[in-house]
Amino acid sequence: MTYFEKIKTLPIKEKAVIMGIETSCDETAVAIIKDGREILADEIISSATEHVKFGGVVPEIASRMHTTAILKATKTALEKANLTLDDIDAFAVTEGSGLLGALLVGVSFAKSLAFSCNKPLVPVSHIRGHIAASYLADKGLKPPFVTILCSGGHTAIIAVKDYYDFKVYGSTIDDAVGEAFDKVARVLKLSYPGGPNVERLAKEGQNVVPLPKMLKNYQGSEFDFSYSGLKTAVINYVHNKQEKGEQINPADVACSFQHAAIDVLIEKALKVVNLTGYKTLTLSGGVGANGYLREALQKAVKDKDIKLVIPEKRYCTDNAAMIGAEGYLQYLKGNFADLDLNAKAVIPLSQK
Ligand code: KG4
Ligand code: ZN
Repeated sequence: MTYFEKIKTLPIKEKAVIMGIETSCDETAVAIIKDGREILADEIISSATEHVKFGGVVPEIASRMHTTAILKATKTALEKANLTLDDIDAFAVTEGSGLLGALLVGVSFAKSLAFSCNKPLVPVSHIRGHIAASYLADKGLKPPFVTILCSGGHTAIIAVKDYYDFKVYGSTIDDAVGEAFDKVARVLKLSYPGGPNVERLAKEGQNVVPLPKMLKNYQGSEFDFSYSGLKTAVINYVHNKQEKGEQINPADVACSFQHAAIDVLIEKALKVVNLTGYKTLTLSGGVGANGYLREALQKAVKDKDIKLVIPEKRYCTDNAAMIGAEGYLQYLKGNFADLDLNAKAVIPLSQK
């Protein structure tokens, strides 16, 4: 019997322990999740400091760092959960979207574990993983709900109709919100990672720089976003001032950009909540760690019949617990991969 033939004969257990493996960018992460909701271990080894001098993630460096960190992260996760590989029911791994070389480290590692332990290999979409982080934040959370997906690669308002059935109401037509934070950080000469540094600076500023309204005469979905225009408006503002020899207040620029980038996310998400009638709103993705967004959302739902689920900051940015949580859902469906699983640079939002 081949590996895959053997795997298909295994019973699917509702009470299952899943190892999640995430290597799509600069975090080498391994987590162990029980029954899709309980975090038994959650290790993250970040190579962020290696990338600072380059102003952004260098894919080659990220891949090499994953290679050296992944075994350590796995051993530590097992130790902290007080488990051995025999206790793991399935190995879930991010297959995309992300940096190909980086993803391949996790995919190859997960394949070798699955093969040697004779357990299922479960491919997971990074984006679905971000959304599944809310199941860890609120153990009672069940679809339907609306989520604001805001990461370095994606921006969308999504209705999670069921664990496996999603409807994308609007998404970005160009840059993602996190990408805009990172680019604005560069214009303001802030170091990598840009998002948290823009947030820090914005705290000292005021929302006084006039920035254009997003997608003013746009004919597409009213829930779509365009962060490229906003980013360009910030760049033009800074350059025009510099050409005239006028001073800018970087903190005001950061604060005004942050308002413009975030307020529109909340506004459109609330419209989708109204439209769907769903009573729960969740936050997914790295920009979800932004303090202004988290506070503004709390204020926006105050006095409204909307339940808010905001994962801890650690579970908004990249982690493996979310991959284990989504991996559990895919495991229950028997969505297993064979050993020819490949990494994918892009997985569309609508695809599982
Ligand atoms: O979800 P994530 O960790 O990785 C992707 O899947 O892309 O998101 C990373 C993005 C980066 O663009 C980063 O600048 C942004 O999330 N980010 C933030 C904050 N923390 C991370 N943006 C604004 N404020 C933050 N505090
Ligand atoms: Zn991510």
